[in-house]
Amino acid sequence: MKEVSRERLLKQQDFIQKIKIENDRIDTPLKAFVETYGCAQNENDSERIRGMLIDMGYVLCESIDSADLVIYNTCAVRENAEVKVFGKLGALKNKKAAKPSLIIGVCGCMMQQEHIAENVRKKYRHVDMVFGTHALYKFPEILDKARRGTRVFSTENSDGEIAEGIRISRDNSKGAKISVMYGCNNFCSYCIVPYVRGRERSRSAENILAEVRDVSKNGYKEITLLGQNVNSYGKDLGDAGITFAQLLREVCKVDGIERIRFLTSHPKDISDELIEVMATEPKICKQLHLPVQSGSDEVLDKMNRKYTRGAYLDIVRRVRERMPDIVLTTDIIVGFPTETNEDVDKTISLLEEVEFDMVYSFIYSKRQGTPAATMPDCLTEEDKHRNFDRLTRVQNEISRRKNEAMVGKSERVLVEGVSRTNDQFLSGRTEGGKIVNFPGPEEMVGKIIDIKITECKTWSLTGEII
Ligand code: SAH
Ligand code: SF4
Ligand code: F3S
Repeated sequence: MKEVSRERLLKQQDFIQKIKIENDRIDTPLKAFVETYGCAQNENDSERIRGMLIDMGYVLCESIDSADLVIYNTCAVRENAEVKVFGKLGALKNKKAAKPSLIIGVCGCMMQQEHIAENVRKKYRHVDMVFGTHALYKFPEILDKARRGTRVFSTENSDGEIAEGIRISRDNSKGAKISVMYGCNNFCSYCIVPYVRGRERSRSAENILAEVRDVSKNGYKEITLLGQNVNSYGKDLGDAGITFAQLLREVCKVDGIERIRFLTSHPKDISDELIEVMATEPKICKQLHLPVQSGSDEVLDKMNRKYTRGAYLDIVRRVRERMPDIVLTTDIIVGFPTETNEDVDKTISLLEEVEFDMVYSFIYSKRQGTPAATMPDCLTEEDKHRNFDRLTRVQNEISRRKNEAMVGKSERVLVEGVSRTNDQFLSGRTEGGKIVNFPGPEEMVGKIIDIKITECKTWSLTGEII
């Protein structure tokens, strides 16, 4: 692991100070709007951008209308996420014409792809800053240049580095997100992540634990440890490293933290040690997101997932043996190029066999530069959508049944905020990560309380305070 040197980080601090002094001279503080697409890792990166912006004297705002600075932190995992961002950028063209002082930036995974950054360079000339995932820590320097009227492109690949010590401004309604590692080495044949996030690199356990202690001091009761494949945490650290299971044990020792979650686990790296830690540490939520992608061995092989249907089912069996009530969730891709209708039948039968609490299913999206992008399609788009629909129907029924079984039971719920649909109601999450809405006073936000589940819907539960 190579950390970005102190010198280089201090240089960024200088830019932060410089911009802060300039901003403090203005009577009305400048407003910044940051929008995030994609996964929790990207949200965590946006929290860092917000942290840096606050240090530079910006005030965060919730809408682009009043903003002096707009940043889109983008995701490249599927085409529809990219289309949305280009739509948003297009819409900003008139805004910039009406308010030339507006600074527009795009960053994140999409920008780490050469053809996309090129497209922005040529066709979106009103965009002032483009920076990739590896340049995040250089944001103050990039912004300083943009404020001086230079168009900045920073999409170099400085693979393998970790920048520590950037201030994070967290979204405090939910638990704190803490990255334990960056990048991915797995190269699943459909996936762009390893190309835009670089190789796996783990943070040192000391730095992670210091951050956990820090969020605990700031009142957070729940944390989510993040990485594209958390179970390979520490493997790149050699003798200095510990396993993810050992890291979890250390994190459990931090006072004040009552709930620990983690994302994502690749089935090929789930160890008995991990299952044991989960089963024996009361602070670790009995919830496991274990993406299976497909129930067909042929497709799994072409996806380069490195496990079989049988091996996956065996993990599920071992996990449930130790934790019978565990909440299991997964990701599925429908329409992978080589996938046939029979392969989808196998995936559906796997869903019926495992009975996941929740499934995030996606229609395959071709990603330029990945091996799957050159595989010929077996099915038409229409067939793929039909398969997606029939899989969704089966799973919705299972999810509903699973939620129904919770009615009448009591659950420990961490209150996250006022319900979005009814301001008399609060919204929180069970240990298994399910959303529960219930009537209650706002003062309860941030507390863990007992709730009796009274009603179930496909995606959420209703309850009352016990
Ligand atoms: N690292 C995690 C997931 C990262 S991406 C893991 O390995 O499980 C989140 C999900 O997006 C994946 O699990 C997969 O289901 C989906 N996904 C990734 N690439 C995709 C593509 N090209 N088309 C459709 N879905 C994709
Ligand atoms: Fe993508 Fe596979 Fe890595 Fe997950 S493990 S990020 S699906 S390459
Ligand atoms: Fe998307 Fe990048 Fe996350 S591609 S899913 S934001 S790692």
